[in-house]
Amino acid sequence: FTFASVNQEECIACGACNSAAPDIFDLDDSGIASVIFAGDNNRGVTAIAEELQEELQDAIDSCPTQCIQLSDAPFA
Ligand code: F3S
Repeated sequence: FTFASVNQEECIACGACNSAAPDIFDLDDSGIASVIFAGDNNRGVTAIAEELQEELQDAIDSCPTQCIQLSDAPFA
């Protein structure tokens, strides 16, 4: 399993993650990204579905500040 969470302190609201993986990331009114998969609300406690792993990797590769954090265990 892969858990993901955006470090919003480092997000510069570029929107690339939302373009690459709209099922995983959404942007707030200021353009700051959150993990929205399955109602995660950027807590990083919902395992990202297997079929979205490629999109997730694309998003990570496209984020200019590398603020998308991954873990193989849920974030606390
Ligand atoms: Fe922010 Fe990176 Fe997405 S800067 S909007 S988390 S691509």
